[in-house]
Amino acid sequence: MTDYPDTGIDVASIDKALTTTRAVRLRLDLERPVDDQIIYDCIDIAEQAPSGGNQGSRRWVVVRDPAVKARIAELYMATGGEFMLGARDKIAGTGHPQERVMQSAAHLAEHLAEVPAIVIPTIIGVHDGSGRPGLFDSVIQSVWSFCVALRARGLGTAWTTAILGKRDELREVLGVPDGNTQIAMIPVAWYTGTDFTTAPRYPAREITYLDRYAHTWESGPSDPPRLADGPGTVVEVDIKAPTSEVWKLVTDIGFGARFSDEFTGARWVDEDDGTPGGPRLGAQFIGANTHPAIGEWEVPCFVHRYVEGKEFGWCTSDPDDPGARWRFEVASIAGSTRLRYSVIIGPGPSGISAAIASMPDKEPRILFRRIEEHRANMQRVVDGIKAELHWEPEPDRANPIFE
Ligand SMILES: Cc1cc2nc3c(=O)[nH]c(=O)nc-3n(C[C@H](O)[C@H](O)[C@H](O)COP(=O)(O)O)c2cc1C
Repeated sequence: MTDYPDTGIDVASIDKALTTTRAVRLRLDLERPVDDQIIYDCIDIAEQAPSGGNQGSRRWVVVRDPAVKARIAELYMATGGEFMLGARDKIAGTGHPQERVMQSAAHLAEHLAEVPAIVIPTIIGVHDGSGRPGLFDSVIQSVWSFCVALRARGLGTAWTTAILGKRDELREVLGVPDGNTQIAMIPVAWYTGTDFTTAPRYPAREITYLDRYAHTWESGPSDPPRLADGPGTVVEVDIKAPTSEVWKLVTDIGFGARFSDEFTGARWVDEDDGTPGGPRLGAQFIGANTHPAIGEWEVPCFVHRYVEGKEFGWCTSDPDDPGARWRFEVASIAGSTRLRYSVIIGPGPSGISAAIASMPDKEPRILFRRIEEHRANMQRVVDGIKAELHWEPEPDRANPIFE
């Protein structure tokens, strides 16, 4: 555990607010009025956020007028709401991963006009694509502070952008001048119930790379880094194909051999009772490899993570002390499929532990090179899978954030 100095800030409360500021839609209290002063107070807090060049260019529109809210609700319905209602009805009761989000999003679309306050943060300026700071990156952190400050006071918000599909009409309704950019639409209401939970997210160690992109560490790392720290790497591609197609290829264990310079093939091992091997928890296969410095070798692999359609992971050599742990993950992302392929080396013996044993002083360099080698081969595999799959867009596809 890290020891922190006493800052006078209650870290646990701050962390709680930061980790439980959810998109609140079903739990917005549509009956209880929201005092303007609460919103002013939270904007004062939000304005402490940084901005490019330290220029205060954020301007906030808070809509309470029922007629204006009704007009905004109409725009929202037209640009995203109808899609959300349709999607909710289509996937209701199917167990689709977006079922709850759609139910909640559709609820907001249906009740937007009844939300006590709708806040539209804007910023003076228009994005010119120059890469200079000062526009979106000068407002988003501030609006998020606003949401967290409200959450701590018992009010819920939801960051929404679907309305920006009708940004010109919204500009007209609100009288926002040209040359000023509307960023989001934040419904604000007291929330019902008392608490919110954290959401499932990737652990930091799986998406945080030290010193070089895609270099992960399961623990530590020590200084200098060691095999025992669990070095790893990850590659990702977005593929315009249904998740089921991508899943078929990642569980076809020999498929990657077409693209990798090291992995040459794999075969399932039948179970003791003669049941043919195949992709399922506890199954085994034999992987074959080749490497200019090592030669050719085979390694037993054990499927140790398996969630149909989502996750396929195996460890090598010995399930209790694996030489490496490999994992494919397949997820639906905005009309595409994201394929993530990762590996963690160790903790058990493998070719690399043997190499380190013979040259212990070179451990960090051996690890770095091996990680880069794995990364390049893994990239070839996911690129090969991507190239294999084709996708024709559906003409009526809309609002990919909610797919
Ligand atoms: C850029 C962005 C745009 C979003 N647009 C909408 C939207 O138009 N309508 C909506 O209901 N939710 C919208 N959301 C909310 C997400 O759907 C929400 O964050 C997601 O469901 C996860 O819920 P959580 O924030 O509680 O973890 C948006 C979120 C972001 C970050």
